[in-house]
Amino acid sequence: MTEIAERIGFVGTGTITKAIVKGLLSDHVGASEIIVSPRNADIAADLAAAHPQVTIADDNQTVVDRADIVFLAVRPQIAAEVIPLLKFRSGQLVISLIAATERARLLDWIGADVELAQAIPLPFVENREGVTAIFPRNARVADLFNRLGVAVECETRKEYDLLAAASSTMALYFGLMGRTVDWLESQGLPQASGRAYLSAHFQSLAKVAATRQDEPLHALAREYATKGGLNEQVWMDFDEHGGTGALIEAFERVLLRITK
Ligand SMILES: NC(=O)c1ccc[n+]([C@@H]2O[C@H](COP(=O)([O-])OP(=O)(O)OC[C@H]3O[C@@H](n4cnc5c(N)ncnc54)[C@H](OP(=O)(O)O)[C@@H]3O)[C@@H](O)[C@H]2O)c1
Repeated sequence: MTEIAERIGFVGTGTITKAIVKGLLSDHVGASEIIVSPRNADIAADLAAAHPQVTIADDNQTVVDRADIVFLAVRPQIAAEVIPLLKFRSGQLVISLIAATERARLLDWIGADVELAQAIPLPFVENREGVTAIFPRNARVADLFNRLGVAVECETRKEYDLLAAASSTMALYFGLMGRTVDWLESQGLPQASGRAYLSAHFQSLAKVAATRQDEPLHALAREYATKGGLNEQVWMDFDEHGGTGALIEAFERVLLRITK
């Protein structure tokens, strides 16, 4: 894989910037120059100490001035204060990671004729295993995120917003596993045993869902539930006692937040 020659800048050096920079600077990818903004000071210092390709800019404007590709990676509340103060170059590629902030508002803050893409990288990009939704289609942005896993280019904003809703299932996944392990422990199974069992179990299930793409998930649910058996019972209890309702309501509320 050829090294990325363009200079890549980050406004906001937090959790997701750290994951992207680590992924970009792994042996398999390689980027020639990365410029990060000074906040968070500890993360910026750690990245610069670990990687000679990383320099810490004096301020956010210096990041924009020196970079060919600028990532906007501050929280939404901070973005409204920070981005309108920055001067971007016409034609500069800007990739916004800012959640729940629509394109028109971003362009208004940026105030220049940039090439703007939005993306939802997840922490797994650090290990080059992240699936990243992108909107609109953009070959340079897709190439970058394909190096860090798989880029999914959305045709419409609706598709992008729905993948944003789908990406909000990470805490749900660990929470479901955590509640199950807690219950197993309350019944006498040591935490470590419950966790090791469930981690392997869920990994096998994820593999089936990924490899048997042509089969409807509800058909897999039926296949993995013996008629009148334990799996069928747990699914029916979940579905009939409010589990599905709570899930749908949560997604509807999160979609409202994303699209507001
Ligand atoms: N984490 C994820 O998995 C993820 C995934 C996709 C998208 N996103 C989006 O990416 C953005 C960043 O998320 P995050 O999880 O990385 O948040 P985060 O860890 O809070 O990072 C944001 C960073 O911005 C810094 N900051 C604060 N004020 C600043 C300013 N005036 N100028 C420049 N930087 C400033 C903060 O520094 P201090 O610590 O010094 O305050 C902080 O380190 C958010 O909009 C989020 O929606 C996150």
